[in-house]
Parts: sequence; C-alpha cells; structure tokens
Amino acid sequence: MWGGRFSEGPDAVMRAINASLPFDKRLWRQDIAGSQAHVAMLGAQGILSVADAKTISDGLAAVAAEYEVDGPPDDLSLEDIHMATEARLAELIGPVAGRLHTARSRNDQVATDFRLWVRDAIDQTDAGLRALQEALVGRADEHAETVMPGFTHLQSAQPVTLGHHLMAYFEMFARDRSRFADARARLNRSPLGAAALAGTGFAIDRAATAAAMGFDGPTSNSLDSVSDRDFAIEYLTAAAQASLHLSRLAEEFVIWASQPFGFIALPDQWSTGSSIMPQKRNPDAAELVRGHSGRIIGCLTALMVTMKGLPLAYSKDMQDDKPPVFEAHDLLELSLAAMAGMVGSVTFRADRMRALAESGFATATDLADWLVREADVPFREAHHITGRAVKAAEDRACGLADLPLDVLQEIDARIDERVFGVLTVDASVASRTSHGGTAPVRVREAVAAARVSLGTH
Ligand code: ARG
Repeated sequence: MWGGRFSEGPDAVMRAINASLPFDKRLWRQDIAGSQAHVAMLGAQGILSVADAKTISDGLAAVAAEYEVDGPPDDLSLEDIHMATEARLAELIGPVAGRLHTARSRNDQVATDFRLWVRDAIDQTDAGLRALQEALVGRADEHAETVMPGFTHLQSAQPVTLGHHLMAYFEMFARDRSRFADARARLNRSPLGAAALAGTGFAIDRAATAAAMGFDGPTSNSLDSVSDRDFAIEYLTAAAQASLHLSRLAEEFVIWASQPFGFIALPDQWSTGSSIMPQKRNPDAAELVRGHSGRIIGCLTALMVTMKGLPLAYSKDMQDDKPPVFEAHDLLELSLAAMAGMVGSVTFRADRMRALAESGFATATDLADWLVREADVPFREAHHITGRAVKAAEDRACGLADLPLDVLQEIDARIDERVFGVLTVDASVASRTSHGGTAPVRVREAVAAARVSLGTH
C-alpha cells in the first residue's frame, strides 16, 4: 500500500515487528463502521461519485460478511486491520477500492476505531459491574440481620451485619461505574477527518461522520486527535480501580474460606481440588481475581509509560496501545463474571460469623458508650473502665456479656444491670442507626435504594 518509493520489500523481522494485525484484527467491526461512515460522507460531499461510494460501501459489507464467518486473515504482510480490509476490498471490487482512503489517514482511522472499541468495552464492563451489584444486593437483603465481626487491622473491632459489609462493595462498584461513564462521555468525540495530523484540503463533513458513528461531535484539533490516547488510559484507570475493588473482595473471600475463619463455603462449581491433598477445596477463582488485578494495573502502567515521551503527533509506539487495553478488558470481564458467580452462589456460615463476633470482645465500645450515656462518664474514662472489664473477661475466659454484675461493679460502681442490654452483638448492631450505619434497618434501606438505582425494585 505504501511501496511506491521502495525498491525492496521489508526484512522478515521488519515485517514481524511492524505488523499489528495479530492483535488489531479485534478492531474489524469498528474499522468497517468507520469506513462506512467515511465513504457515505465522501459520496454525500461529492468527493466521490455516488456510484463509486455505493460500490465501496457494498464491498465493505461483503468484507464484513466474510469476517463474520472466518474472521480477518492472519497474513503478516497485510500489516494491520486497516490494510487487510482495504486489500480484501480491492480483491472484491477492483481499483475503485483505492478511492476509499481519500481524505483519510490510518492515523485518524485507527484513533477512530480504537475509540469505538473502547466505547463498546465500557458498555460491556458497565453491564458486568451492574450484574455484580445485583448479586451483592440480593445477598445483602438475605443477610441484613446476619451478625459478623467487623474488623480493623484484621482484629475483631465491632460487630457489623453481613448485609452492610456486602453493601460496602455495592458502593465501590457504583463509583466504578460512574468513573467509566465519565470516561465514556469524554471519549465520545470523533477524530475521523484529522487525517495524518494536519487535517485535509478536501471538503469533508466531520460532523456527519461523527453523527453516523454515534459520537457527540468531532474532536477540535487535528494534532491532538491523532496523537492522544488519554481515552484509553482513562479506560484503564477505571479498569484498574474496579479490579482493585474486585481484588479486595476476592481477598476477603480467600480469608473467609480458610478453615480458621470458615465464614463461607464456596460451592463445587467455584472450587478446585488439589492433585495431592484429597481434602482440599481451594478458592482459586477468588485468588485469580486478586491476581488479575495486578495484571490490569500493569496494563495501565504499560500504556502510560508508552505515551509519556512521545512528541506530537503520531509515532509507531502508539500501535502498542491496543494489547494492554485488550488484555485488561478481557481480564476484567472474566473477573467480574467470576465474582458475580461466587457472590451469587456462596454459602455464608452465619453460625461461624456469630461465634467469632461474640468471641472478640467486639461490644467493648458499646460498654464504653453506655457509661457515657447512662452514667455521664467522660468517654476517655469510660474507655479505661471498659479496658479493665475486657481484661477481667479475658482472665475468666468469658465474653463481656458473661461477666457477673458484681465483677463489673467492682471495676466501676456506676455500672448496673441495664448494661447487659447493650453487650450482645445483636443489640450492638441494632443500635448503629446513624446515617450509613450497620443496623439492619439501615441495611434494608440501603438495599431498597440500591434496587431503585438499579431499576430492579
Ligand atoms: N497499525 C497502526 C496502529 O495501530 C495504524 C496506524 C499506522 N499509521 C502510520 N502512520 N504508520 O497504530
């Protein structure tokens, strides 16, 4: 396609390093859509005859029909998806195919294709995040009253409800979705017509091609249009953040599935065995979600480092923009589906959660708060008194609620029998009714609000 000034073909290694077809063939639908918009505009503007535009458009449809069945070819000498499609078009319709590239460059062509691809990727990712949110809401509703230990420093801190814990992830994934939506809004402008870097002298209609591809309008500066990939970096940033949230949830599943915790049992479909230890049920999918997050963060880093030193406008380094985006997208899709599957099917062991919540003096704060409320003790002093009560319980190897009243009164005479009303884990969670708190009534409200936001109420 560009051999006019050359007398020899490329070295085999030159060909291999130059070719992007092995990976950018994934852009074929977007490439055809962009070419269809372009040729329709060339016809409408009188840059091509109506007959030529029609021949080319029909030819592109025929190429697309072939790709639909067999996919694009693998021949490295075709270089990239843009050249491969044009070459096939020429085979099908003859020399008129050569008119398609009027007023266009591969530089604005690939920028257009890639924006279209990332836009579709965002829509798919959003659907995956939403499905995971639905799974979380369903389980949170079931477990609005299930008591579990809440942790700080992975030390038993205060009892919480499992529903509240699950809804924390709902919130994270809601923000992830809004990050993708923000990225989509900024991405949705068409670079087609920026040509190689400077624009074109042909009387093209960039607004028309933009509208035909569902963009909100054309980009403003031709140099910027062909040389920035911030839309892809934003996609990867949002993907990395979402995968980080997935990784934290996955990590909790790994911990919860361990024997010492025993908070969850993953069903057979979401467990793996060991080839040597017959008793094993490993949470491999959760571990891989955690692992994939590292790779997705790596994809973001890869593209940022690729872009950071490039002068305007296009440099071939930018061909390397696609593999990390494709990889991150594939890993994220799989991770979202796996996490939704696990969340939807896991068995929560409410008995184990309750036992652990009751064993870690998790209602110590409730005792301190009771002293403040009922005996007007300053909080710092109440904290100290409660510390002594915890020590007494530890010495007797019992829970706070099991301490005899006289032992408590020896520690502080202002304590009376009403204190036992706040020392159970159920009383503790029921009392946490502040906005965003863990009380079952708040969890049910959060679940209802979530269903309204998802449109599933
Ligand atoms: N395969 C190239 C890429 O992905 C297409 C653009 C090529 N442009 C050029 N001037 N060589 O970036």
